[in-house]
Amino acid sequence: MTRDCLQFLRSGRVVRLNEFLPRTTVLDWLRESERSIGTKEGCAEGDCGACATVVVREHGGRLVYVPVNSCITLLGQLDGAELITVEDLADDGELHPVQAAMARQHGSQCGFCTPGIVMSLFAHYHACNGATTREAINNVLAGNLCRCTGYRPIVDAALEACAEAADDRFIRSATARLQALRSLDDKADLFVGNDGSFFAAPVSEQSLAQLYARHPDATIVAGATDVGLWITKKLAPIEKVIHVGRVAGLSSIEATSEGYAIGAAVSLARAAPMLGSIDPDVAEVLRRFGSIQVRACGTVGGDIANGSPIGDLAPMLIAMGASVELRREERVRTLPLESFFLDYGKQDRQPGEFVRRLFVPKLAPGTHFRAYKISKRIDEDISAVLAAFCLKIDAGRISEAKVAFGGMAGIPKRAQAVEAALRGLPLAAMLRWHEASDAVGVDFTALTDLRASAAYRLRVARNLVIKALAEIAGAESDTTRIAGRRMIADAAG
Ligand SMILES: Cc1cc2nc3c(=O)[nH]c(=O)nc-3n(C[C@H](O)[C@H](O)[C@H](O)COP(=O)(O)OP(=O)(O)OC[C@H]3O[C@@H](n4cnc5c(N)ncnc54)[C@H](O)[C@@H]3O)c2cc1C
Ligand code: FES
Ligand code: FES
Repeated sequence: MTRDCLQFLRSGRVVRLNEFLPRTTVLDWLRESERSIGTKEGCAEGDCGACATVVVREHGGRLVYVPVNSCITLLGQLDGAELITVEDLADDGELHPVQAAMARQHGSQCGFCTPGIVMSLFAHYHACNGATTREAINNVLAGNLCRCTGYRPIVDAALEACAEAADDRFIRSATARLQALRSLDDKADLFVGNDGSFFAAPVSEQSLAQLYARHPDATIVAGATDVGLWITKKLAPIEKVIHVGRVAGLSSIEATSEGYAIGAAVSLARAAPMLGSIDPDVAEVLRRFGSIQVRACGTVGGDIANGSPIGDLAPMLIAMGASVELRREERVRTLPLESFFLDYGKQDRQPGEFVRRLFVPKLAPGTHFRAYKISKRIDEDISAVLAAFCLKIDAGRISEAKVAFGGMAGIPKRAQAVEAALRGLPLAAMLRWHEASDAVGVDFTALTDLRASAAYRLRVARNLVIKALAEIAGAESDTTRIAGRRMIADAAG
């Protein structure tokens, strides 16, 4: 069954649209078509949170409130969801508890960032259910930039508003809204437009495979945290969009005795607890991945399929020995993740082939993992270098080594000379650690760009080899790390 109109909930009504440009963003629709201008545009690239809205969907029988940057979210991604904006919060003229606390605490000066901040806090108000902390709020606000008020009163307002369990008109109307959302869930493929220009959101993997085989020139969109910027910054004339967010088979996570199979469309927020359980450094890198809005939309598959040399997941997953599963029509194939990246901007993916799943093995006993994200800013910044180490120690010697770097070449890549220098090295032989760190220069010719110079990248990558060895040999992370301490000491060292 195919439906030819987009449908979503907004302010208590169902919006149905059978004509819109496939690249229309939620923000443009709000401001230009709906004339809901409370939601602001700041950066138009997902960084500042001025455009934050909340998207509500049903998960496990309850409503989940997710903060979303509307500037880089495509209108079609709203299919089957409820969109809440700052205009919706007040109840019969009375401010929402989050808005009232912001006013009481003087959390707004020029007010430009305020609608976005209020929406991020509104999502947190519903998510935390009266149990929050200053740290959690700082995390929630990492993607909302305020240039004039300062964060102290904003955080105080959040602490005040979120001190009690959520009790607002959204809680009181939850049952009716849940019913309304369920009635939109017709399990039909969405196709709005024609063969030359369309927004499609298939529900089954089979429909996705057939549609993409028919239109291999279409742009696959998962969370749009990359594609959204092609539209707003590069003004890319994208005419055919296939959104994979509704494909059930791509949204599942399976745990097996060997590891995890993660669907390509699983968001980074959903994948984080499970990937983070493999090692605390993975948890910390994911906590620093973009912002809460970026992690809510951005997907595991998107961070791999984009082939970015500075994506955070790829080097960590390569060092762990992950593999990627691809599908084109009926043909499914699996390859080691490291082989997927061929050259800058080039992956081993055929026309009409999509990323289906990633297989991430658990760490073998005796294996030590470390990952370090080097960026100019701790939160919401892209890596200049990301280094990941997976070392197996037998009787005090390194018996196996997998080391991968992001930011050091045109693709995320294993450091084979470093690995060769590590294999067989006695861990306690500090004076020989430089043999491995010097080998970084054999593996990589680093590049200079706006994030870092080649010399800086080379120096930092070498130092990270030493840091990993020092930590695995037993140095406490409060002596090796200035910020982002290793969260839990691993049993083996
Ligand atoms: C403010 C901001 C901060 C960010 N911070 C980070 C960061 O800290 N670390 C980091 O690594 N990245 C970061 N990113 C980049 C981005 O969020 C990630 O790359 C994210 O994982 C992309 O996922 P997505 O689902 O949004 O991809 P999309 O934008 O939907 O797609 C990205 C690419 O992958 C393709 N694609 C997506 N899914 C599939 C599939 N199943 N099969 C085939 N092709 C597919 C698309 O066609 C496109 O080419 C940031 C982005 C923003 C805007
Ligand atoms: S306008 Fe800055 S994140 Fe959307
Ligand atoms: S109140 Fe002015 S930018 Fe935040």
